[in-house]
Amino acid sequence: MKNLKIAVVGAGVVGITTAVELQKLFRNADIDIVADKFDVDTLSFVAAGIFRPGTSFTGPNEDITRKWINDSYHYWDNIKNSREASNAGVAEVSGYIFSSEYPQIVRNEFIEKLVPIYRTATEDELRLCPGKWKYGSYFTTILSQCSLYLPWCYSNFKNAGGKIIERNIDNLSSLGSEYDVVVNCTGLGAKYLCKDRKLVPIRGQVLKVEAPWVKTFFYGDYDTYVIPCFDSVTLGGCRQYDSYDCTVNKYDGLSIKERCESLVPSLRNAKVIAQRVGLRPHRDPVRVEKEILYNNGNKVRIVHNYGHGGYGITTAPGTSLYACELVREILMGNSKL
Ligand code: BEZ
Repeated sequence: MKNLKIAVVGAGVVGITTAVELQKLFRNADIDIVADKFDVDTLSFVAAGIFRPGTSFTGPNEDITRKWINDSYHYWDNIKNSREASNAGVAEVSGYIFSSEYPQIVRNEFIEKLVPIYRTATEDELRLCPGKWKYGSYFTTILSQCSLYLPWCYSNFKNAGGKIIERNIDNLSSLGSEYDVVVNCTGLGAKYLCKDRKLVPIRGQVLKVEAPWVKTFFYGDYDTYVIPCFDSVTLGGCRQYDSYDCTVNKYDGLSIKERCESLVPSLRNAKVIAQRVGLRPHRDPVRVEKEILYNNGNKVRIVHNYGHGGYGITTAPGTSLYACELVREILMGNSKL
């Protein structure tokens, strides 16, 4: 009998996590990752990867949103507690979020009961960083650095028999003649592939600096953050709605540097290693659902998994596990479409 064939389109954190989970669920299936961008060319590679879902992360309803977040946390936590943690680029980090204006900014109802520590900052802690900080929280969470996680996953995927195919896809249904199911993890690429007007880029820019003395993360006002990663510290950021500009903007870079240095003055001694830009694929809600398309009269089974905005690394495991269940349903033919 012919093996089940599944294509996962997209090789960022959502695509690779979905592909590895599909291998666990369908042990005898032939699973291919089909993509035209890998590693450094994916958005996942740019982001710092701290587990901190924001309020703009929305699933189809509250229960599902929370399930995706909780499942994701446990996925990252399991890797963090395993012997593979450092190979996979997953570690525990702690730090502060401060606001000079709004108490709600320093709260996070998604994770306050999930992470080991989430507490109000003391008066002394509010004076750790220059600035008129009125509100603050200290919390412990997980960092997943995709420059390590993606290669670790690619290698697990290949060792388990998965194939990686470099190919540009301009039509999902064209894969229907080769595969039983196509899982769409193309991020912003879905805007064109699915003609999805709900999917909007939110442009981000970061600096990677050498500052090994920074061991704690700090978030300040107006998208300012300092996040220590495995081999560098990520400084951010900005959030530019509906901007498609993939080039490094000198003025954004200067603003990020100035804001981060005023939050953590010792960064004035840090060497800038790189500047990077990424377009976060924002969609309300994130699309994880089934669709049947037709190609020359033949049924093509699709499962979508895209639109995670700036929370792709944080929430990829939860939406991917959910997408795997949808693959099972669509194959069993009991999809309520
Ligand atoms: C961010 O989440 O801040 C981010 C993500 C991707 C590229 C740049 C920034």
